[in-house]
Amino acid sequence: MARQKIVAGNWKMNKNMEEGLSLASEVIHMAVDELPSSQGVSLVLNPPFLHLSAVRKLIPAGKGIYLGAQNCHHKPSGAFTGEVSAEMLKSLPVDFTIIGHSERREYFGETNALVAEKLNLLLEKGIRPIFCCGEALPIREADTHLAYVAQQSTESLFHLTAEQLKQVVIAYEPIWAIGTGKTATSAQAQEMHAHLRAHLAGKYGVEVASEISILYGGSCNPANAQELFACADVDGGLIGGASLKSRDFIEIAKSFPNK
Ligand code: PGA
Repeated sequence: MARQKIVAGNWKMNKNMEEGLSLASEVIHMAVDELPSSQGVSLVLNPPFLHLSAVRKLIPAGKGIYLGAQNCHHKPSGAFTGEVSAEMLKSLPVDFTIIGHSERREYFGETNALVAEKLNLLLEKGIRPIFCCGEALPIREADTHLAYVAQQSTESLFHLTAEQLKQVVIAYEPIWAIGTGKTATSAQAQEMHAHLRAHLAGKYGVEVASEISILYGGSCNPANAQELFACADVDGGLIGGASLKSRDFIEIAKSFPNK
């Protein structure tokens, strides 16, 4: 089975409502006009929480364009002022939700165990998690990155059944490449993606592992996407900065080879 090709735009804390709606509508129009469904690329727009409901209304059905949130809380409901639950996201509905982004891990102290709790709630609601993992520069320099990222996935994913795992999208995002303009080389990305897939295969079998989409994230742009997406185990991208420009985002989505 061919793996799902996905390009997800993580807007982070950017764009006010008006700007966000015009970005979303530009992306949607370009996607409908320029990305034939025969190419089989799924786009996911991940605006801030506040914009989700309005962006939902702009997304046409059946065009391979999906809505995602950037986070959710790890408890189902209750006295957590300012937080947003998986249940609330489901009620829009959103299709995907990013969890375990390195910025959440760094600035909000999120751990692998906490990310696992979020993952469980999302899966319970039928929302597909985009699970982020990736190493900081000192870990890569110490040459322990493969084991470190495998450990992140073990601690957050390995309690899942095979059927649950198939709902998960993995995004490998080396922290040293995020927002820095310093992209991983295609060889570095392929090495990690293949390692992650082999790690999943060790637990769930080769067949299940071969169905999981693994995205690359970290300064991906229209100039480097083609080389990255040509790698055997790179199934698309999680795009930050370049997702804020409609033309760049669409050009990235057009960067898949016919593989
Ligand atoms: P970037 O961000 O593309 O701006 O490096 C990627 C991400 O953090 O998801």
